[in-house]
Amino acid sequence: MKVNSLAFRLFVTAAVWTLVILPVAGLAIDYVRQRELASSHDARLSQLLTLIIAFSTDHGGAEPRFPRNVGEPLFEVTHSGWYWQITPLGSSPGRRMVSASLASEVLALPSATNVTTDSSNIRWTEAAGPLGEPLRVGEIVFSLGDEEVQNNYSYVVAGNQDFVDARIDEFRLPLVMALALAGLGLIGATFVQVRYGLKPLEAIERGLADVRSGRAQRLEGDLPAEIEPLRSELNALIRANQDTIERARTQVGNLAHALKTPLAVMINEAREERTPFGNKVVEQGEIMRDQVNHYLDRARVAAQVGVIGTVAEVDGVARGLIRAVSRIYRDRHIEITADCPPGIRFRGERQDLEEMLGNLLDNACKWAGSRVQLKVTLVEPDAQRPARAVQIVVEDDGPGLNAEQRAQAVKRGRRLDESKPGSGLGLSIVADLVQVYGGSFALEAAPAGGLSARLILPAA
Ligand SMILES: Nc1ncnc2c1ncn2[C@@H]1O[C@H](COP(=O)(O)OP(=O)(O)OP(=O)(O)O)[C@@H](O)[C@H]1O
Ligand SMILES: [Mg+2]
Repeated sequence: MKVNSLAFRLFVTAAVWTLVILPVAGLAIDYVRQRELASSHDARLSQLLTLIIAFSTDHGGAEPRFPRNVGEPLFEVTHSGWYWQITPLGSSPGRRMVSASLASEVLALPSATNVTTDSSNIRWTEAAGPLGEPLRVGEIVFSLGDEEVQNNYSYVVAGNQDFVDARIDEFRLPLVMALALAGLGLIGATFVQVRYGLKPLEAIERGLADVRSGRAQRLEGDLPAEIEPLRSELNALIRANQDTIERARTQVGNLAHALKTPLAVMINEAREERTPFGNKVVEQGEIMRDQVNHYLDRARVAAQVGVIGTVAEVDGVARGLIRAVSRIYRDRHIEITADCPPGIRFRGERQDLEEMLGNLLDNACKWAGSRVQLKVTLVEPDAQRPARAVQIVVEDDGPGLNAEQRAQAVKRGRRLDESKPGSGLGLSIVADLVQVYGGSFALEAAPAGGLSARLILPAA
């Protein structure tokens, strides 16, 4: 997933949101659970308080007596963390009574401090027990006696707080695990959702690549409603582009046609003259004709290069040309080897590739000793070249050219070896075409001693 991508944005926002919301939910659940446990603990203590008051006063006397068993065995176990204590307040008669669990210890009375009572008249405090254990302490001050004599007794019940804390801790691990699992699940689901949701965009990308490389004429396929308009707009654009090129091509053809005949007539007429003026017109007219042809060719190619979808299979073109040149140079017994993996495609007109490669092979055969080698490779994009390219190298084992000659050879009409037939235009045509296609062309010294011509052209 690239950082600057829709998928990344969608995924990261969803993931961050999940990571924020789940811990908040976790804290909320933990808080509620803690509150609930604490209040059920308090409810149990206040229930025990009520029982102890009831069981110590149900004989109807003026002072409480030792209460019957309240059904909590932990009151009988020494230092169990569960205690009760009945203390006469002020000058009330009777003695302090405590549960067996408290042994000889005494619990501090919440009523001795300024703790206020809750709605059911209980004072709640936290204290430390005989063993230092944390206790939740509840106290009711209960009055016995008649209208004249009121005796007050403090009833205290204490329960071990560890019990609640342990239950809270026990609950935390499963809670964290459940939320973490939910988080992972959500992030995974988001990932799948983003991938699946953005799939059609990949289809568009592939479709456009197909159109650009000539495998398709227009964008096809079933697209979701949101991007369907994009497809039809793109198809309209491609169509308009093709129309423009078609028109340019027609106009170029028309212009060539319109100029050719008058020029030919002019040259013929001037030839008849046989005067210095006539000769001059013939000479200049021929230059004009050449120039018109040359630039019309260039214009035609330039129009082609922009065309979405023209491609030529390098392998096929190379094989056809090799057959042709070996026929032309049959008598010289030149061995032509070609290393051209099938499937490499040049993005441009087949005719132009034939022109470039044909000129290079022709030169190589013309000057070769006995061997000509053609090597075609696909160059993957790198920092200097953003798109894939086709590299074509033609080498021979002839006399070759020195650095200065290599620079000269490409010039229009320039011939360095007049012993072989030719017009001196071949390499300049190659250089022109390469320039139009935005490629590169270089002459180098071949390892075998001859000339090595290297073409780099856009690949489809
Ligand atoms: N493979 C080669 N080995 C040695 N010299 C070469 C080779 N290719 C080209 N040259 C030199 O470069 C010159 C220019 O080549 P170019 O292809 O432009 O013209 P040409 O082959 O002479 O004529 P044309 O290709 O127009 O028939 C040639 O005349 C020749 O001297
Ligand atoms: Mg040539």
